[in-house]
Amino acid sequence: MSDQAQELRRLRERLNNALYSQSNRQPFKNKLSISFAGGKGGTGKTALSANVALSLSRRGIKTVLLDADVGLANTNIILGVKPPKNWADFLYNDTPFEEILYFVEKGPILISGASGISDAANLPSYKQEELFMSLATLESQTDALIIDVGAGIQENIINFSIASNNIIIVTNPDPTALTDAYSFIKVISNKLYNQRVYLIINMARTFEEVKRIYEVFVPMVKSRLSVNLEVLGSISYSEEMVLSVKQSRPLIVNYPRSDAARQIEIITNKLLDNLYNQNQASSNTPASYSKKLGEDSKISKEYEQEESNGSKNGSFVSRFCKFFGIKK
Ligand SMILES: Nc1ncnc2c1ncn2[C@@H]1O[C@H](COP(=O)(O)OP(=O)(O)OP(=O)(O)O)[C@@H](O)[C@H]1O
Ligand SMILES: [Mg+2]
Repeated sequence: MSDQAQELRRLRERLNNALYSQSNRQPFKNKLSISFAGGKGGTGKTALSANVALSLSRRGIKTVLLDADVGLANTNIILGVKPPKNWADFLYNDTPFEEILYFVEKGPILISGASGISDAANLPSYKQEELFMSLATLESQTDALIIDVGAGIQENIINFSIASNNIIIVTNPDPTALTDAYSFIKVISNKLYNQRVYLIINMARTFEEVKRIYEVFVPMVKSRLSVNLEVLGSISYSEEMVLSVKQSRPLIVNYPRSDAARQIEIITNKLLDNLYNQNQASSNTPASYSKKLGEDSKISKEYEQEESNGSKNGSFVSRFCKFFGIKK
């Protein structure tokens, strides 16, 4: 074989390998997939991803929730369930994949976090790909995948983050959290293919601190990192959220009328809205999504009612929505 032919063969193999591994790292390519990520610990990734997954399920959207946290998995606590197996059992203890699927009543299919692995460094990429490939087998039977990503910037944390079509960076308004969010976006910026990158500002206490992020942080990310960061919304600091986590009950069930629960419903609406528009643009609209949007949630309707009555809480949410152009 000539040198040129050998070189061509090597190039083809490299291309095949690259395509193979990229498809293995995108388990829900053709459905709604969202990673809640962000580098810094304790910003609310788990609390928000679990509630959004539940909100989607309650609208009839079949949702898989993967707790991708390695070591400190706690999505099950937020949802108040006790799955007997987790994905470490599947990867390391020969548990069949079907046995790690936990069907939360009126909620998502939960794949519980790998509490058997001591830290993220102990999850080699071939094991992670094994998990992604098994997850992909659920794509045809379900509508959405939510991934709750742990804190940090280790390789497999980044891989979990970019495995979805929509990456939500969860931050709070503190300078340390924003610095970590910026560093995290910088790390993923070179690895993005065509995902959308969103920001949720969690635990916001004043309108002004949210406004500052919108006016300073977001333009800085756009100009310096060339990432088209879009603010998806903000969630108020919420005592109801703190209580719900303590009581191991999901916020949107426990306190559906709280500001934070309403903001979560609004954010879920916006995600579905974006997906709907995106798919319409590519003339590939799944009828189920448009129907869900049209129906809208009962909570949003109640909320609109309260808004028009001018309730104190409603007007606080209203200012956020107006500022961010979020439809209720
Ligand atoms: N909007 C909110 N208002 C008040 N407290 C909140 C809010 N969101 C989350 N919290 C609290 O913050 C704590 C951390 O939340 P959570 O575990 O979801 O963070 P995390 O980003 O998943 O952390 P980790 O990176 O360690 O996985 C929880 O105890 C929760 O009660
Ligand atoms: Mg978490």
